[in-house]
Amino acid sequence: MFDAKVYTDRRNRLRKEVKSGLVLIFGNPEASFNYPANTYHFRQDSNFLYFFGLDHPDLAGVMDIDENKDYIFGNDVDLDDIIWMGPQPLMSEQAAKVGVGDTAPLNALFEKVKEAKSQGRKVHFVPPYRGETYIQLENLLGIPVADLRNHTSEELIKGIVKLRSIKDEYEIIEMEKAVDIAYEMHTTSMRMAMPGVVEREIAGTIEGISLGMGGPVSFPIILSIHGETLHNHYHGNVLKEGRMMVTDAGAETVSHYASDITRTVPVGGRFNQCQKDIYEIVLEANMTTIEATKPGIANRELHMMAAKVIASGLKEMGLMKGNVDDAVKEGAHAMFFPHGLGHMLGLDVHDMEGLGENYVGYDDDIKRSEQFGTAFLRLGRKHQPGFVFTIEPGIYFIPALIDKWRNEKKFLDFINYDKVETFKDFGGIRIEDDILVTETSYRVLGTPIPKTVSDVEETMSF
Ligand code: GLY
Ligand code: MN
Ligand code: MN
Repeated sequence: MFDAKVYTDRRNRLRKEVKSGLVLIFGNPEASFNYPANTYHFRQDSNFLYFFGLDHPDLAGVMDIDENKDYIFGNDVDLDDIIWMGPQPLMSEQAAKVGVGDTAPLNALFEKVKEAKSQGRKVHFVPPYRGETYIQLENLLGIPVADLRNHTSEELIKGIVKLRSIKDEYEIIEMEKAVDIAYEMHTTSMRMAMPGVVEREIAGTIEGISLGMGGPVSFPIILSIHGETLHNHYHGNVLKEGRMMVTDAGAETVSHYASDITRTVPVGGRFNQCQKDIYEIVLEANMTTIEATKPGIANRELHMMAAKVIASGLKEMGLMKGNVDDAVKEGAHAMFFPHGLGHMLGLDVHDMEGLGENYVGYDDDIKRSEQFGTAFLRLGRKHQPGFVFTIEPGIYFIPALIDKWRNEKKFLDFINYDKVETFKDFGGIRIEDDILVTETSYRVLGTPIPKTVSDVEETMSF
């Protein structure tokens, strides 16, 4: 948790954005796993963490903007709770740590909201994403679950996005820690990537590193010798020489800031020539776009830059052909690079995605493309100092996509399908880093994680 002043300042800035009414920010309740009392690992809501800081279930934060007062609603523990959970500070003591002077039991929230509604004041809330929160909001506001998303507050969403997009010095320290945990996870994964090992042995080991050094992983680990499946959560394959292994994994710090890193390595520790050729193209796309990062450049421009590096590298290898600029303009590269260059990163691994991707990644100047591939870019707008985002280009050979486009005779001027056929069992490569936009340029967060061919081979050699 940060100093109380950090939370008070954040709420005061949000107040200026939303201007009037009651802001309601629910913390998360526990979520049951396989029977009611057996719960998933508790994860607090990120907006609640950002504005109200407290990290346990069954809390609600309210900012009464008209009254210029903040409240935390939550219950003090009773003797039964103390027997099971141990003694806990009073709600008033906890609230004071985040600069909130007024607390009340959770059921008093009904009165507070009822009073505001009867006065004709707006109750601002963001899109819910947990079933429990949908039900709480329905009970509280009398809006049916199915209709709740039509009543969310655009002023609140935009205000939160404006604040959370710019990371302060305290947050950046946390995010560096998250990448440093990922350093340990990824270098361990590299060293374990030897023939005969089962993917889950590596995935389990590196998840343990995250838990031991901070919090849980920031999203379910993607680790596979079938990297062509972008979010592959199956960890049952046995590693074989000749395959590449993709590890896309990050950690949460104790304070819940995330990292999100991908490395791709040759099983056994030595790249063959073909792997090296494709790898060098992805690496060039990664490094060229990192080096071009600065305030004012649109992330969509970086995405298109990566697409051109990829298309021109694939043309040199004879997998693509024709004019590179035209190929990228028409979207032919997306057969090999069918996702976006990256996304915001912060308390959420896809930061603030729950508020609506277009609010986070786009604005009045830059609207989302509708073209296959570029349409999946989560962050298109111009960079500002304080943004933290990922750069994660990739090249994949996805047999089903290759077959479909070939049958449709798509982009025959730009794709050399006969050669592509010979790569159908290649898999995929992605290289992902976490980048801070500084006042004039950029900084790659954390201890550098090996990514050149020679650094990866050296790391894997002992
Ligand atoms: N961890 C999924 C992604 O890279 O966005
Ligand atoms: Mn990732
Ligand atoms: Mn990512």
